Amino acid sequence: MKGIILAGGLGTRLNPLTAITNKHLLPVYDKPMIFYPIKTLVNAGIKDIMIVCGGNNAGDFLRLLGNGSAFGLKHVNYTYQQGQGGIAEAVGLTAHFAAGDKVVIMLGDNIIEKNIKKQVLDFERQKSGARILLKEVQNPREYGIAELDGDRISNIVEKPDNPKTNFAVIGIYMYDNSVFEIVRTLKPSKRGELEITDVNNAYIQKGQMSYSYLDGYWADAGESIEALLETNNFVKKYGANKMD
Ligand code: DAU
Repeated sequence: MKGIILAGGLGTRLNPLTAITNKHLLPVYDKPMIFYPIKTLVNAGIKDIMIVCGGNNAGDFLRLLGNGSAFGLKHVNYTYQQGQGGIAEAVGLTAHFAAGDKVVIMLGDNIIEKNIKKQVLDFERQKSGARILLKEVQNPREYGIAELDGDRISNIVEKPDNPKTNFAVIGIYMYDNSVFEIVRTLKPSKRGELEITDVNNAYIQKGQMSYSYLDGYWADAGESIEALLETNNFVKKYGANKMD
């Protein structure tokens, strides 16, 4: 199982904080944002990690993280995304690194409280297909939202105007290696991006999507200045990336 952290994109929603640095290098309480998703994957037992960087500050990731010794890693792999062609485009850039293995992908601005080791183990045991995590939210128009038919996900809608549920698809995606074939078939959305929601819907249509509900706090810290502040306050008070 390989781990991939997506830290491309320009983070314009957080301007002017992101005018001269990358969103994932901004502080979340006492650490740069990117530390949290790395720790999430490491705590789940994933040691072979690639970080997709982008923008004008890609070199800063290397200076900050080096070979990952702060996380007990021997080595970190990096790649670079030109522009911001979407989350699925960034995933496509990691095909050579995955080299036939399954992958756990985490968005660089997502921060969680608890360990996802069990979900990763469940996915390891799953023969093929994909696995995602859902979390109930108050503001469903800001996320990919799952529509349910009984206990299966029937569809995911990206930032719906009229959300049918409050269950957001959080930014941790587990895929078998067919994800890279799916990415190659995608067309840019209205916002000009290759959408991760289209990847997830492709798995749903093949009947190969499983899911579980995330336990504990989840934040998309890059969603807005308010979300960034709230995440800082939560992490200060309760911590993140607990071992259980
Ligand atoms: O946080 C969960 C949400 O993340 C999901 O519910 C949505 O379905 C999903 O589309 C995504 O929505 P956002 O609008 O929050 O995505 P954002 O553009 O903020 O990108 C999230 C991360 O992905 C960001 O921290 C860096 C990475 N990224 C993004 C883009 C657009 C890249 O690496 N490359 C990119 O081109």
